[in-house]
Amino acid sequence: MLRLFHGHSHVSISTMSLCIIVWQVVILTCLSSLSGASQKEEKNGDPTILKGHLQPFGESGQRREIEVRNDFPEPYDFLKNYLKKSKPVKLPGVMRDSRAVRLWTDAYLMSLDVPADTVVGLETKKKENRSQETTSMHFHEFLKIYNQTEHYMVDDVPKYLRPDVMVPCSLQCPELVEQGFAFAMMWFSSGGTNSVVHTDAFDNLNCLLRGQKSFVMMDPARDRDKIDISHNGAYSAVDVDSVDLTKFPGLADAEFYHVNVTAGDCLYIPYRWIHQVRSFNSNVAVNFWWDHYSSSDLLDRDEAVCQGQCDRSLTLDKVELNGQDSSMDNLGSLKDWMRDVVINNPMTIEMVKDMFRDEYAGGELPEIADKLLNEVFEKLDLNKDGQYTIDDNEEIPDENWETIRDDVSALTSMLEEDNLKFEREEYAQYVEADRKREEL
Ligand SMILES: *[C@@H]1O[C@H](CO)[C@@H](O)[C@H](O)[C@H]1NC(C)=O
Ligand SMILES: *[C@@H]1O[C@H](CO)[C@@H](O)[C@H](O)[C@H]1NC(C)=O
Ligand SMILES: *[C@@H]1O[C@H](CO)[C@@H](O)[C@H](O)[C@H]1NC(C)=O
Repeated sequence: MLRLFHGHSHVSISTMSLCIIVWQVVILTCLSSLSGASQKEEKNGDPTILKGHLQPFGESGQRREIEVRNDFPEPYDFLKNYLKKSKPVKLPGVMRDSRAVRLWTDAYLMSLDVPADTVVGLETKKKENRSQETTSMHFHEFLKIYNQTEHYMVDDVPKYLRPDVMVPCSLQCPELVEQGFAFAMMWFSSGGTNSVVHTDAFDNLNCLLRGQKSFVMMDPARDRDKIDISHNGAYSAVDVDSVDLTKFPGLADAEFYHVNVTAGDCLYIPYRWIHQVRSFNSNVAVNFWWDHYSSSDLLDRDEAVCQGQCDRSLTLDKVELNGQDSSMDNLGSLKDWMRDVVINNPMTIEMVKDMFRDEYAGGELPEIADKLLNEVFEKLDLNKDGQYTIDDNEEIPDENWETIRDDVSALTSMLEEDNLKFEREEYAQYVEADRKREEL
């Protein structure tokens, strides 16, 4: 489930390779691209001669740039002028003197005392395709291999690194800090990673601590209908290295915001902005994810909100990270996300179950999970025709959403606990195998 919401966390329940949906999406995409393509050809001529055809994502349509500011906006300014207005901003150099930027060489990271029974979550292919396998290993093991393999780390910032990560000044609104953030994630690779086109269920401040990254973003207010990002519930099926404009004709006249960031820079990616990320050279980023609705509500609630000085010693170990549940308090993001999932693809109960089954390390879902999902589906399929559709979605009353939220969150934590258990067992086996190898 986590993955549905924010994209990456390897100990997560998600839709990744939901075959039934995949097939349905493939068929629907083919149908719509056929009709889309022929309409396009009649209107605009041959899309294959348009700028950006078979080029990387972001090379078609119009090129745009975002605002750049050389300091952290004060929290109130940030919430009012960027978050509330859904406006991205690049903040070059603002994290330059943070401990993480100054200290985090591989030698330093190697020298840290990292508990032996902990692992970090890893992706295994630099070109992201969410049907790829994830794995996990001890942080120091990862450091030893990441320059030679495609493995890269995508996981919550580990506890032993949190004291080095400063909470960006723009997020140091006391009320926001008190609510806590949802996640602080760490992205660590030797470069060459290439993400799918996706949205996140959170507001996002991404700070680069080493290396370079480039982002291509689309404004959902203008271009949400130019690309289907509901593939497997969470992203677009477009090949980011070679955009076929006959299949994705909307991208021929979308606007693309291009941003490069380098170590010490932060980038604000507003809630629901569509984006794609590449990394270059040895690189490490930490991004903060927090609930859009509760932070945006702060401004409406109180005139005197966010007073206080930036505290440069306020580090990640001193703030709460509430995980997915923080955004579940407010039903807005759950509804937004479910709308995206069913906008093009009606779902049956089996498809909903497959979503969970697929990410469950135990294979078949436990009986209680099955029962909970039946209950959830009852609440989603309002007109009881066996399909949960966008029409049902728009009519679902808030009390149903509340039950859905509570059931799904109970289910997610239950399955995640199981997954962690499976992972620990797997890791113990790996350590054992390693020990045997060394004995030989
Ligand atoms: C990995 O490569 C980077 C960049 O070349 C280098 O700075 C780093 O020390 C290497 N790490 C290891 C563990 O070899
Ligand atoms: C992921 O890989 C599968 C199988 O190789 C492919 O069919 C699919 O298009 C890929 N998806 C993306 C988003 O690249
Ligand atoms: C980002 O960097 C690339 C490679 O150096 C360059 O071609 C591109 O113009 C840069 N984009 C922006 C928006 O600065």
